[in-house]
Amino acid sequence: MTVAAYLLGSISFAVVMSKVYGIADPRTYGSKNPGATNVLRSGNKGAAIMTLLGDGAKGWLAVFLADHFAAVLGVGDTAVALVAIAVFLGHLWPVFFRFVGGKGVATALGVLLGINPWLGLATLATWLIIAYAFRYSSLAALVAALFAPFYYGLLFGVDPILLAVIVMSVLLAYRHSQNIANLLSGKESKIGGKKDGAK
Ligand code: G3P
Repeated sequence: MTVAAYLLGSISFAVVMSKVYGIADPRTYGSKNPGATNVLRSGNKGAAIMTLLGDGAKGWLAVFLADHFAAVLGVGDTAVALVAIAVFLGHLWPVFFRFVGGKGVATALGVLLGINPWLGLATLATWLIIAYAFRYSSLAALVAALFAPFYYGLLFGVDPILLAVIVMSVLLAYRHSQNIANLLSGKESKIGGKKDGAK
């Protein structure tokens, strides 16, 4: 189950959708990140939305199926937690793309929605509020990732899935190291910026 989740996570929808829409590979422009924010810098909103939906859907699907099979097989939260981490790791270090993956925001959101819709919606609302207020996708993701484990803890208490949510948040923050440096030095590009000016 975890191997299947990792393989599913390894499908980079930023790369796939860019090919489908006939635009440049997102690993060649802007932040060079294969993610929805960077695809948006191409100017193609459709490709960016489809990237967001695809990367989110794979996270959701992996957890949804794990939850279903965990109930059928009588295995507990640990199996769901492992699948959540596996699909997320697949997105960050995809076997199909020489282990060069994205930063995990859309996939983490899909995972959280799969764990529980309210958990996902609370985290999404956090992202939207920060993104609307500051216009930085990365800052919104970092703040949302900080809050997600607290939302989970408040809703469900301490269990293996909380640990998975914390691991995802830590890895997401780690993958945003360059964004953090850019934010601190005032060089981070805002949502909707074009690829030429992007870091
Ligand atoms: O979705 C990733 C986002 O938080 C940052 O992306 O391209 O600005 O590094 P980017």
